[in-house]
Amino acid sequence: MVQATPFLLVLFLALGAHGHTVKKCILTGHWKNDIGSNMTISEVKENGDFTGIYNTSVSTTTKIVPSPLLGSQHLPYLWNQPTFGFTVHWNFSNSISVFTGQCFVDNDGKEVLKTMWLMRSYVGKLEDDWKATRIGYNVFVRQETHEGGKVEFPEEMQ
Ligand code: BTN
Repeated sequence: MVQATPFLLVLFLALGAHGHTVKKCILTGHWKNDIGSNMTISEVKENGDFTGIYNTSVSTTTKIVPSPLLGSQHLPYLWNQPTFGFTVHWNFSNSISVFTGQCFVDNDGKEVLKTMWLMRSYVGKLEDDWKATRIGYNVFVRQETHEGGKVEFPEEMQ
């Protein structure tokens, strides 16, 4: 304990000092990506879990409906620019998309989410497995709102 105390003190000071100079990147709120898709992330729970709604601008189908997302992040009080991941369960197709990324604050103080995704589409037979997965990259920027990140879930999702 005697040996651990100076170490913990240094760690605390390092994290504390860092926290004062670097703006934290917060996932909660409204985001738009480079292809015009919108995403709203609700409040992140104490353990890093979060939920939200994804409204994609593009689809492999003709219909698009806002769809629920379920994710988890490393905690922002430990890391100012946390890594995260989430799954989107598309309500209008039989695909699933998973995103993984990091929440950064750029040199102008603006938050940006750098993500990569995998999308698994349904195929009817094993022989078609080879063409069932797509991969891509999306960058999200925060949409200014006056609602403080409060998520209004559509009735069918409540
Ligand atoms: C589907 O086509 O079956 C569901 C919609 C998939 C939308 C994809 S997910 C990755 C990429 N980023 C987006 O914002 N939309 C597309």
